[in-house]
Amino acid sequence: MDETLRIYWKLYNEIFSNEIMIHKSHNLLRKFEEEFIDGPILELGCGQSNFLVEFSKTGKEIFAIDNEEFQLNLLKKRIESYAGKNAGKLHLLNITIPEKEIPQEIFSLVIASDFLHFFSMNECKNIISQIISRTQKGSLIYVRVHSKLHSYSDSSDPEVHEYFKHFFTENDFTELFDEKYFERMIFSNTVQNIRSKFTREMEMKWTEKVLDENQIFDRQERQEISEENNKELNNGFLECVYRRK
Ligand SMILES: C[S@@+](CC[C@H](N)C(=O)[O-])C[C@H]1O[C@@H](n2cnc3c(N)ncnc32)[C@H](O)[C@@H]1O
Repeated sequence: MDETLRIYWKLYNEIFSNEIMIHKSHNLLRKFEEEFIDGPILELGCGQSNFLVEFSKTGKEIFAIDNEEFQLNLLKKRIESYAGKNAGKLHLLNITIPEKEIPQEIFSLVIASDFLHFFSMNECKNIISQIISRTQKGSLIYVRVHSKLHSYSDSSDPEVHEYFKHFFTENDFTELFDEKYFERMIFSNTVQNIRSKFTREMEMKWTEKVLDENQIFDRQERQEISEENNKELNNGFLECVYRRK
C-alpha cells in the first residue's frame, strides 16, 4: 500500500468511530442476519471492516484477512472496544490473496467488500472456487465491486488499470457465481454522482495531510491540487448477496 493510502486509512480510523462507521455504512447483510448459519465469518481484504465490527457482537469466530498489518491491528482494536467480551475468537491473518490459500474452514459468511476489483476475472474465478470449497448449503457470500459505470473505468491513465484490474458488469457476476452453487438473494447497481458533505470534508482533510506529508506548502499549488483531487466522480458499484446451494 502506498503512503497516500496509508494516510487515508489512518485518517479514516480517526474520523470514523465504530458507531459512526457502522451508522454510515450501507450493510446489505443486515437484512439476512437471522439467516446466518453456524460457523465462522471470513472477510477477504477486510481493512477496518464495518461488517466485522458490527457482526463481532454475534460472538461468531472471525477470520480477517488483509495484507497490511496496520489495518489488522486497527481492526483488532475496533472489535475489542465494540464487542468486548462478547466477541468470538478473532484470527487476524496477514495474507496476500490469491498467492496464499484461504484457510481450510467451512464459513457461514464470506465477505469481499471493495476487494475483487483488484484482480483479473481469472484471478476472481480462482478466489471464488476457493470460496465454493469453504462454504456449505446456507452460507452467505457478500460481494461489492467497482462497476463499469465508475468514472475510473474509462480512465486513460494505465496506473489506474494496474491498480483496479477489473470493472464489473452484472454479466460478470453471472459468470463468476455459477448458479449450480449460488442462489442470488439481492443485487444492487448503484451510481453515486455527488459525495455527501461528510465524505467530501473527510477527503479534503486527506488531501491536506498528503500535501503536508509531501511538503507542498505553496498556497497556489496546494489549492490547484486540492481542486483537482476533489472533483466529483461517478462512484459506480455493484453489490450482491448469494446463498450457497
Ligand atoms: C478498499 S480496502 C476495503 C476494506 C474493507 N473491505 C471495506 O470495505 O471497508 C481493500 C483492503 O484490501 C487489502 N488488500 C488489497 N489487496 C490485497 C490482497 N491481494 N490480499 C489481501 N489483502 C489485500 C488492503 O490492504 C485494504 O485494507
